[in-house]
Amino acid sequence: MTKHEELLHMLLNADGQFVSGEEISRNLSISRTAVWKHVNKLREMGYEFEAVSRKGYRLVTKPDSIDATALQLALNTTVFGRKAVLLASTSSTQGDVLKLAEQGQGEGAVVIAEEQTVGRGRFGRKWFSPAGKGIWMSVLLRPDLPLQNTPQLTLLTGVAVCRAVRACTGADAGIKWPNDLLIDGRKVCGILLESTVEDHQVRYCIAGIGVDVNFDPGDYPEELSTIATSLKMETGQTVDRTKLAAAILTELEQLYYLYQNEGFGVISALWEALSVSINREITVTNHQGTIEGLAIGLDPSGALVVEKHSGEYVLVISGEISWKS
Ligand code: BTN
Repeated sequence: MTKHEELLHMLLNADGQFVSGEEISRNLSISRTAVWKHVNKLREMGYEFEAVSRKGYRLVTKPDSIDATALQLALNTTVFGRKAVLLASTSSTQGDVLKLAEQGQGEGAVVIAEEQTVGRGRFGRKWFSPAGKGIWMSVLLRPDLPLQNTPQLTLLTGVAVCRAVRACTGADAGIKWPNDLLIDGRKVCGILLESTVEDHQVRYCIAGIGVDVNFDPGDYPEELSTIATSLKMETGQTVDRTKLAAAILTELEQLYYLYQNEGFGVISALWEALSVSINREITVTNHQGTIEGLAIGLDPSGALVVEKHSGEYVLVISGEISWKS
């Protein structure tokens, strides 16, 4: 950690209380003048402090944007997010991570943008990504995996984001197959997993995660206003996007390593426990047409098992589902 990161760590841990200049200078082994310089560096980064003689410094507000230093401090990972590129604006973080992957960047590298001008969703749809309102993030994965197993990573990513959202906000988020997050029937997060393949083996995957965090109702265009929601709208609280991004990366790393060591079974069980699609009468729409039936669960490969009204079981590996509310 650099000195200003250590200083920030101390002031964040003090929970808004004063920390004396003397204590800081002792803990960081720097002079009082150096403390003042590091405080000013953090001020330039958007942190605001109250400084009172004989009391010291108190953190008053954090920057509104996702902050690189605070992200590093909040991460509980060894690899994921340790290489993080934070951008004010980009076309799509998927493209940025693709470039990093082609340059040979390692697994767990991440790009997070405040805004995407051409955010992409599944099935070539646009993904609405206005500035400062969400987490628009792509993560590089380099799994040793045959192509047919990549849907398992899609499901794993959904579980990771769902667990992080629940832990950070208390929101009752559930997973709609394969990996949309819903709260009360409205979509709060979408995930796009894109893979580059060679000889039926994955070269790398890019897990694109879009979470609607601090949208207010008026921030949505009309076509999204009845189907999308944000964590702020659901919980009534503004959510710290930096902490949530760190929690997502932390969950993702833990589940990813669990998956590599133990296989898909445990991920599948976690997915089923968080799913809001199981035991529902659903309609599946994909390139093969539509199927209607009861969603039963996941098979060992990660396909959705649907029992048709005829009693026949079918396995679904791609597409979209819907149900009557
Ligand atoms: C969907 O539900 O259709 C998936 C949406 C995925 C959106 C994220 S935001 C970060 C990353 N960059 C993109 O352009 N898309 C993904």
